[in-house]
Amino acid sequence: MDKDFEILKKTITRTIDFFPERYKQKPLKRRIAVRMRYTKKDSYLEYAHLLENNKEEQRLLHKTLTINVSKFFRNYETFKKIENAVLPKIFDTYKNSGGIVKVWCAGCATGEETYTIAMLIDTFLKEKKLSVPFTVIGTDIDTDSLEKACIGCYRKELFNEMPEQYIDEYFERNERLCVRHSIKERVHFKRLDLEEDDEELNDLDLILFRNVLIYMERMFQEKVLLHIYRRLCENGFLVLGKVEMLFGEVKKMFTVLDSRERIYRKC
Ligand SMILES: C[S@@+](CC[C@H](N)C(=O)[O-])C[C@H]1O[C@@H](n2cnc3c(N)ncnc32)[C@H](O)[C@@H]1O
Repeated sequence: MDKDFEILKKTITRTIDFFPERYKQKPLKRRIAVRMRYTKKDSYLEYAHLLENNKEEQRLLHKTLTINVSKFFRNYETFKKIENAVLPKIFDTYKNSGGIVKVWCAGCATGEETYTIAMLIDTFLKEKKLSVPFTVIGTDIDTDSLEKACIGCYRKELFNEMPEQYIDEYFERNERLCVRHSIKERVHFKRLDLEEDDEELNDLDLILFRNVLIYMERMFQEKVLLHIYRRLCENGFLVLGKVEMLFGEVKKMFTVLDSRERIYRKC
């Protein structure tokens, strides 16, 4: 059984460019089982065979394995804390410096978090009457999600944590709510595995890395956190998801700004 599962994992890596070893094995098995039930395959080997030859199943498995749920202002309190305790520190440094503030949403799924932080910064700058340029880069391994992020139109149910003022200012109301150009031009998306290097992603002021780590094996978590650490500028900020935390070597490389909201600063 375990040998068969190993064979299936190799097939997954080869066919859908997803590395199962990096993720927690029990939940991974549960998600694979969903596709096996759906396709009526009783064994890992049968399912591996199907996957090898079926492009649509490859797409659906990728979708099942990369959990793409997101929401605007997910954990509202975290964004409040970023607004009050992080943005003033970042933008004070840049006042009249001519530099550009860079934010990275690592594992951005369908873009809600990327647009949320862009709107938060835009509003903050308007209120403080500052004109510092900024850019937000959203990256993910799931191209279907990134396509949705680029389109930027969302069902209304995703907005229940979002204050009305942001909807009026930054969205066009149709059947769905679509992000206005003024905020889209601050944001861009690209496909990138967390382990890959990208020349744009260095010297970052703020990284949102939320609800991605939780799915990963501990060894891979450490590796990715180190990678993230190196991408931050001196004194840059890192925000993790509500149930995620720093540990091991990397923990010593940050100070805690807010333990409840999982906000850290590179030291
Ligand atoms: C649950 S979503 C988190 C979305 C957003 N950060 C939030 O908190 O609302 C997790 C995302 O991480 C992405 N992901 C998983 N492994 C990844 C990897 N190795 N490199 C880049 N993205 C990855 C998945 O594709 C998925 O879209």
